[in-house]
Amino acid sequence: MSFLEPAGVFDREPAPGLKIIESGKNAGTGSYVPETIWKNEDLEKMVETSDIWIRERTGIGARHIAGEETVAQMAVKAARRALENAGICSTELDLILVGTSSSESIFPNTACLVQDEIGAFRAACLDVSAACTGFLAVYELGQLYIRSGKAKNVLLIGADALSRLVDWHDRGTCILFGDGAGAIVLTAEEQETKACEKIHSDGEKGVSLTCEKGTYLQMDGRAVFQFALSRVPEVIREVLKEAEVPVEEIDAFILHQANSRIIDGVAKRLKAPKEKFPRNIEAYGNTCAASIPILLDEWNRSGRAQKGQRIVLSGFGAGLIWGAAYLEW
Ligand code: COA
Repeated sequence: MSFLEPAGVFDREPAPGLKIIESGKNAGTGSYVPETIWKNEDLEKMVETSDIWIRERTGIGARHIAGEETVAQMAVKAARRALENAGICSTELDLILVGTSSSESIFPNTACLVQDEIGAFRAACLDVSAACTGFLAVYELGQLYIRSGKAKNVLLIGADALSRLVDWHDRGTCILFGDGAGAIVLTAEEQETKACEKIHSDGEKGVSLTCEKGTYLQMDGRAVFQFALSRVPEVIREVLKEAEVPVEEIDAFILHQANSRIIDGVAKRLKAPKEKFPRNIEAYGNTCAASIPILLDEWNRSGRAQKGQRIVLSGFGAGLIWGAAYLEW
């Protein structure tokens, strides 16, 4: 079957009034972080900072650094783990989408490099540039491909190496970021679900977080902090309103891991207990598009994921772009 042919999954119309739709179900997850770890104490030797300052202001204790390893190599490792976890062969994939802003080559894109490595010869392969909202963006697009009937098995990857884009002399930014990749496999399943996604953008405010080609990442930390605190709770409420699911019924909020204080602030504004906001920022820092799928993979593999759980994903970052998704595990 070619990619453009309908997947043949819409062979019956849902009965009027019923919410049975063909939607993407999370079939498997995988993640990868490079071996090299730079702890806060290592950064103390590079810039005027301290472990205490970084932990108190961000919740970060360490980050993994890619070194020679490319974004595509990290993406392939996460992808293989997700496919194995899903029990799906690479040749069954109709689509590979990669959210990344730090790939080494302008083209071929990272998704095509992954395709070549894993032998997913039937898949269409596209990269999406949406910075730290990159995974949310590919998640929404993957769901739209499945719901339109264009794809049945979709591999979604978030992979970034921001260690290459930060100025390691700038203590205002270098302490925040780390490298890694995460992936999930969505498979089409006829199901009664209220799953929905929303992405928003505000190009006018893009100046607060930029990275021009050949230069380092520049950031107005306070502006980005305030943007996240106001927009993330807002977009989460928006998806939950559309899904008709109250905040109290959400089992876990899987947020982009940018700053522990941002996560606490979002929890407070949503009046939701902090315990419902799993986090791994202490070990990885902000891994940009990889942070949500890495956390999802840890959620899955640690046994915390249960069938039927109600989950919210939310990402935010440069662009400015932010978004949220509601899904049932
Ligand atoms: N170590 C020690 N001191 C530092 C420091 C560091 N790494 N970075 C900044 N400082 C200093 C500043 O120079 C400033 O000193 P001053 O008062 O003498 O001028 C002081 O700490 C406060 O700086 P400020 O920038 O106001 O700190 P902050 O509380 O806003 O924290 C961030 C800075 C970057 C941690 C915070 O703004 C943040 O996390 N913002 C969001 C960034 C983000 O998530 N970006 C990615 C989005 S996807």
